[in-house]
Amino acid sequence: MGRLDGKVAIVTGAAQGLGEALVKRIAEEGAKVVGVDLNEEKLKETMAKYGEHTLGLKLDVTDENGWQEIVDTTIETFGKVDVLVNNAAMMSNKGVLDLKPEEYMKVMQVNSLGTLLGIQKSIPKMQENGGGSIVNIASIGALKSGAADGGDAAYSASKGSVRALSKHVAHNFAKDNIRCNSVYPGGIMTDMLKKVFDESPDLWESNKAASPLPNHIADPVDIANGVVYLASDDAKAVTGTELIIDNGNMTH
Ligand SMILES: NC(=O)c1ccc[n+]([C@@H]2O[C@H](COP(=O)([O-])OP(=O)(O)OC[C@H]3O[C@@H](n4cnc5c(N)ncnc54)[C@H](O)[C@@H]3O)[C@@H](O)[C@H]2O)c1
Repeated sequence: MGRLDGKVAIVTGAAQGLGEALVKRIAEEGAKVVGVDLNEEKLKETMAKYGEHTLGLKLDVTDENGWQEIVDTTIETFGKVDVLVNNAAMMSNKGVLDLKPEEYMKVMQVNSLGTLLGIQKSIPKMQENGGGSIVNIASIGALKSGAADGGDAAYSASKGSVRALSKHVAHNFAKDNIRCNSVYPGGIMTDMLKKVFDESPDLWESNKAASPLPNHIADPVDIANGVVYLASDDAKAVTGTELIIDNGNMTH
């Protein structure tokens, strides 16, 4: 029996990286999954790997009307929304003194507003359905700086807002049996990061020093397993929590 049997989940940023691992693990645990992403071509390729109970739909998470269409299509196709995972995000790769206002706002729109819109459009359906679970992917960049946020001021601020929004939603919708938790990955060994480490062994050495558990960096599945727990009824008493999955980075 799967831990998410009978549930319906929406996952943003599903085309690649952690998003793909989320789709895979959530589908393996028995849920039907609607994966959304800006990159339609890659999304279709990815979703096709995970079976007939998945659906890939193009969405820019900053598009309010687009979000309404995703939620409506999810209801039409699978009947309800039990789980929302806000995973899509972008970086600016700029520090405070280099960041242009429009670059800051773009990161805030995708990472922060995109998360809010998904929550706004899903909650009424979760209320009708007697409850739900929202999991927001933040970053240890919301909790500390330096290598944790890649020196990216907008990213760090946006993930801090995801942290605060998660608490707000947890508090205000607990009465409706809607739980909202946030997850704080350290490094995740995605294909892109693997390439960076292969090309810059020094960066790998500093990552090793920062994250003391022996494998030093999380695999996407390590983060996805935490999300499965929070999405499932195993976590029925858990809301407003902050799950750090970082190979020990936050221990120093
Ligand atoms: N990779 C890491 O080391 C790391 C560390 C900490 C936290 N995180 C967080 O984990 C999550 C996933 O990271 P990843 O490494 O898999 O990222 P990624 O860049 O590989 O994938 C992000 C996905 O989001 C999609 N996306 C971007 N903007 C979008 C938009 N406006 N609308 C819809 N989709 C959009 C992209 O097309 C892409 O498919 C993010 O929230 C990220 O902040 C990652």
